[in-house]
Order: sequence, then C-alpha cells, then structure tokens
Amino acid sequence: MALVLGIESSCDETAVALVDSERRIVAQRIASQDAEHAPFGGVVPEIAARAHAERLAPMIEGVLADAGVGLADCDAIAATAGPGLIGGVMVGLVSAKALAMATDTPLIAINHLEGHALSPRLADETIAFPYALLLVSGGHCQILRVDGVGEYRRLATTIDDALGEAFDKTAKILGLGFPGGPAVERTAKDGDASAVPLPRPMVGSGEPHFSFAGLKSAVLRAYDSGKYETADIAASFQQAAVDCVTDRLRIALANMTDLKTLVVAGGVAANATVRGALEALAADHAMRFAAPPPRLCTDNAAMIAWAGIERLGQDDPLDISARPRWPL
Ligand code: KG4
Ligand code: ZN
Repeated sequence: MALVLGIESSCDETAVALVDSERRIVAQRIASQDAEHAPFGGVVPEIAARAHAERLAPMIEGVLADAGVGLADCDAIAATAGPGLIGGVMVGLVSAKALAMATDTPLIAINHLEGHALSPRLADETIAFPYALLLVSGGHCQILRVDGVGEYRRLATTIDDALGEAFDKTAKILGLGFPGGPAVERTAKDGDASAVPLPRPMVGSGEPHFSFAGLKSAVLRAYDSGKYETADIAASFQQAAVDCVTDRLRIALANMTDLKTLVVAGGVAANATVRGALEALAADHAMRFAAPPPRLCTDNAAMIAWAGIERLGQDDPLDISARPRWPL
C-alpha cells in the first residue's frame, strides 16, 4: 500500500493531507484564510502567500503526527505547482521540494485542476475512466473529457468569469459577504427563483462555452432598481446560472455520446441546486452522475495527495517551476 503527503496552497486554503492507495484520508488539516481576506471582499494574493508561509510547516508536522508516521513512510510528496496565485503556489512547492530533498522522497508536482478532476475517484472507487467532467471553481469553468490520468480534452471554457466568480460577485453586490458561493446558496433558500428576470448568457449557442459577465451585470441592475428582495435575486441568479450550466453541458455531451458517467468537481460542485440539476441532466442522458462530498469539492490537500497516488512513479525533478497559468 502506498502513502502520499499532499500540499495545497494555490489560493486561500492552506491544506495538508495524507492519503493512501486504499483511498483512505489518513489525516488532514485545512486552514481557511476567510477571516484575513473578508475585509477586502476577495482574496488578496500577498496576504494569502504570507498566511501560507506562516501556517504550512506546523500543519505538515501536525498531519504527520496525527497519523503517527514520518516522511520516511511516505512514497511521495505531492504539491500543487499551479495554476493559482504564484506566491502561495511557491510557498507550497518550495516546502515540498525542501522536504523531498532532505528525506530523499520523490516529489510529484500536481496541476491543481487535475486534483479537482480526479477527486471523484478518491471519493468513489467505482468511478472509472472515461468520464465527462464539469469543473466549476472560483477560477475555472470548463467541460472536459477525461480518458485517463493526464488524458484530458477540454471541450468548453468561459469567455469571461468562472462560475464560482459569478457567485462571489453576486454575493458582493447583495452584501452577503465572503466567500460568496455558500452565502448565495443559503440566501437563495428563502427566495423565489422566478421572481427576477435574468439573462441566460450563451444559452442556445452551438458551441458549449460559458459566459457569466452579463448575468452579473443584470444582477447589479436588479439590485440597484430596488424592486426586489435580496433572497429573490439570489435564488433567481442561482437558477439562471444552473440553466446556463445544464444548457452548455447538453451541447458538450452531444459530442461525448460514448461516455456513461457525468462527474462534477470544484468548489461550486458543493452547491446542492447545481448538483440536483446535474443529476437530472445525467438521468436524461442515461448517464451515471457522481459528485464528491462537498468537503472534497472545495480546495483541499486530499485531492492533491490522491492525484499523487494516481501519478505514483512519475516523479518530477526538484528544479520544477511553479506555474501561475497551467491549462490541463
Ligand atoms: O475549488 P475552490 O475551493 O477554489 C478554486 O480552485 O477556485 O472553489 C471556490 C469557489 C468560490 O468561488 C466559491 O464561492 C465557490 O467555489 N463555492 C460555491 C459553494 N461553495 C463554494 N459556489 C456555490 N455554492 C456553494 N455552496
Ligand atoms: Zn480549486
């Protein structure tokens, strides 16, 4: 059985986890920086990098202690090497390199998006390749065909904002605080999703790409008009976003008719309305639907360690660079 230490520091969660090849999360710690970034209404890269640097070393020690193991027991150290906020990525990757060098443990540099893309397989051993993947997070909004580890084909992306970004901007407009996604979801529960007429950008277009900038502007206009309840705007926004996602996926799935499984991953996959709509869409296409549990949807190190397990044996050199941009 293999054991991998995972390190994640590409955005505003400092996370460390130990995962084994039996899909057990042996130990994990996640330190959120919400409190540090909340006064600014968004993630401040400099504050994030500093917080990662302060927290990471004690968290690594803590996770190893929780599991009662040492680095000598690990088959590899897997660290996010991008894409993300470069200061934070460097903190995690440099720490991983130092530990790898000091203990002669293999280093595996993980693409954060690959971490999300493979996370459903950590949660459920019955999810086999190939599958269709909707990857929706704060920085990314893509539809991919996943044929195997390292075999990703992107069918769609966003031409402006990511879906999580649209949730975050809506939360900001509505004064719901940061992080925005969970706040919009909570507020939407008390609202009427048909109360506010909002656009569904790109719906009906023949290519499966996304666009959310126009939806955000419409939310701003609705809010400024003073005609609507906050909960109704939140619910109507969420419904408009879900309608966009299902329409875009329908187009993309028409080009992947050989696939039997639809998977969603990334922070927005934690949203129950999004999950419900995707489950229905999958049923319509006679596909199996799978979503990791919410705690594995938002950023975490277990998915990075798991990607390391999937890539075991594919060691990276210690001079590998952190990459702010790194398409799958
Ligand atoms: O995957 P993630 O933790 O970080 C990135 O890689 O970006 O995703 C964070 C994004 C944020 O935009 C956050 O607002 C959104 O995921 N999010 C949600 C929910 N939980 C997190 N969006 C909608 N509903 C949620 N429950
Ligand atoms: Zn992420």
